[in-house]
Amino acid sequence: MKDKIIQLREELDRLVAENHEQLEQFRIRFLSKKGVIPGLFSEFRNVAPDQRREIGQALNLLKQKAVEKIAALKDQLDRSSIRDKTETDLSRPAEEISIGSRHPISLVKDRITGIFQNIGFNISDGPEIEDDWHNFSALNFPPDHPARDMQDTFFIEKSEDYQKQVALRTHTSSVQVRVMETTKPPIRTLSPGRVFRNEAISARSHCIFHQVEGLYVDKGVSFADLKQTLFYFAREMFGEETEIRFRPSYFPFTEPSAEMDISCNICNGEGCNVCKYSGWLEIMGCGMVDPAVLKNCGIDPETYSGYAFGMGVERIAMMLYSVRDIRYFFENDQRFLKQFTSAL
Ligand code: PHE
Repeated sequence: MKDKIIQLREELDRLVAENHEQLEQFRIRFLSKKGVIPGLFSEFRNVAPDQRREIGQALNLLKQKAVEKIAALKDQLDRSSIRDKTETDLSRPAEEISIGSRHPISLVKDRITGIFQNIGFNISDGPEIEDDWHNFSALNFPPDHPARDMQDTFFIEKSEDYQKQVALRTHTSSVQVRVMETTKPPIRTLSPGRVFRNEAISARSHCIFHQVEGLYVDKGVSFADLKQTLFYFAREMFGEETEIRFRPSYFPFTEPSAEMDISCNICNGEGCNVCKYSGWLEIMGCGMVDPAVLKNCGIDPETYSGYAFGMGVERIAMMLYSVRDIRYFFENDQRFLKQFTSAL
């Protein structure tokens, strides 16, 4: 009996079923009432008492093994027959392919840069970790300017000597300095990128955001050129009817400086809570590059002049999509991100 059990065990190990009919034959052979295993159970009463314990255990294990093996073979056959059916059914619907969507900030950034690229601006890149010269000093920030203060800037290396300080860039004007230092005019360039300011995070401001800044340096560039370029941009970005206005402002690196507003495209200038009932929305800073900045970057201000502008991408995205809280852009919530397929 022992030999018989061993032989059946080996037979079970080798068992493969090509189809359900064959598997049913196996089941009948091993496990049906007249099958070999129940047959052994009925012979069990003839086993000598001193061997009963050992053979009884072996017999139980054999039965268990047969049940498990037949179930496993059935599972295998079931699965491959489903696969055969679906693989040959060419009319079945395709599996859904889920593709991600672009981030709204990328969409808006590309839309902004695209508008300026159409009129000959190229794109420049620069480091996010910046030295004092490129972020501040070359741009005419006096040594005690509040923007250098711990309040606004994330310093990486603090030093008694402000010129040795290293920080996360607070604007992408730093990239413009790098371009002016290495390129001969005419320069028409955009510097899109991530910037960092040590500000409290709220619905309206974040310590990380994105800018697109622009710079044009050539012979005879005037404020009229700046105005016309930004007017063109505003209409392309916000619609044909968009009006612009300039308000005098101050930046260390431009003179004269201005803030540009566009007519509120939600109430068309009538007044609403988005424009705080003024009819205007502030969208960027701009001005004529200060001659001292040109000089710092090795460009002769007697020969050349230039304009510069800079805007926050989140701010524009919030206006375009009516997003009321800047923090949505940084939380990576799929329910929010999935809603953007194109820049409006
Ligand atoms: N660099 C300024 C800022 O970050 C924006 C600006 C750019 C203003 C160019 C004028 C000219 O706020």
